[in-house]
Amino acid sequence: MTETSKKSTLFHGIGVLYTGDPEREEIADGALVVEGDTVVWAGERADAPTADRAVDAAGRAVLPGFVDSHAHLVFAGDRTEEFAARMAGRPYSAGGIRTTVAATRAATTPALAANTAALVAEMIAQGTTTMEIKSGYGLTVEDERRSLEIASAFTPETTYLGAHVVPDGDPDAYVRLAAGPMLEACAPHARWVDVFCERGAFDEDQTREILAAGIKAGLRARVHAGQLGEGPGVRVACELGAASADHCTHLSDRDVDLLATSGVVATLLPGAEFSTRSPYPDARRLLDAGVTVALATDCNPGSSFTSSMPFCVALAVREMGMTPLEAVRAATRGGAAALRRGDVGVLRPGARADLVILDAPSYVHLAYRPGVPLVAQVWQAGRRVV
Ligand code: NIG
Ligand code: FE
Repeated sequence: MTETSKKSTLFHGIGVLYTGDPEREEIADGALVVEGDTVVWAGERADAPTADRAVDAAGRAVLPGFVDSHAHLVFAGDRTEEFAARMAGRPYSAGGIRTTVAATRAATTPALAANTAALVAEMIAQGTTTMEIKSGYGLTVEDERRSLEIASAFTPETTYLGAHVVPDGDPDAYVRLAAGPMLEACAPHARWVDVFCERGAFDEDQTREILAAGIKAGLRARVHAGQLGEGPGVRVACELGAASADHCTHLSDRDVDLLATSGVVATLLPGAEFSTRSPYPDARRLLDAGVTVALATDCNPGSSFTSSMPFCVALAVREMGMTPLEAVRAATRGGAAALRRGDVGVLRPGARADLVILDAPSYVHLAYRPGVPLVAQVWQAGRRVV
């Protein structure tokens, strides 16, 4: 199709239009024009240009598709029993990852791809139009490579997480593998490199070594930091210019200062605290310090088996001191910042036409009506997908 033959669509009758554009974040009685896969105009209905066709939102809210910047979708099996045991009082530990590693290695490639596709479809049905997908349940050269190849079929935002846990044997030898041959096999299929920097997983030096090797191989860094306790993760993330430090549940004052001054996004994952019955991160402390905050699901079979960004928005508002506006901003523009993407998480001219129509007049309902399936329509790159 040539430039000139692209059809334009006017979205009108919008209750509250949340644009995610700091210049004009919310517009009452807003309208939007999309041409092909791109937003070409956003503003008040009264000023809207004409278009080839129209979609009447009938008083419902419109917002950018959610940007879920942290998800572990390539795995097999589930950990129902581990979850039930936690709810009976057992603590969460990083060791449960090995259960999923065994199931993932044993799964056929079509079965793994089908499980990933089902979770991606769940995400899209709940309004997510951009998702990051990590490896990390293979932990051999071939199983990690295979996970990333599967992930690449669904998103360009693929993350090499060979350093999820040490599967068995000598930790030093595993770090050499993860920073050497495994990275080499995975880098062609990944945009990002991530390390689970935590007691019981990888320490400061190991994290630095693997991230630095990833950066040298052309990947950009993101880090699992401060999930289970305070640690060096945020410091290393800031030192290496990572895009994002994720979890950020346990932070020192110095960590907060570093995040505020470095531009590293703090990605909060309240599904993990919900599913491990742990204290939530203090979003207020981060926001008040001027840190850019993202919200993501952390969808994985162990610590956070939810694919729902609306659920995370509701948790962030109820449990983490965020206003509905701050939570929706974190779930859209914040996620885009965590992935260093300027074309998603926002509805302004030039952005990709990824948008959600809610069965509600305002995005506030995402927290006000928790657990209610409010996502009425999802448009991805100008095409209606839900
Ligand atoms: O982000 N923290 C490390 N990885 C996942 C948990 C994975 C698992 O328990 O399987 C997380 O919470
Ligand atoms: Fe995670």
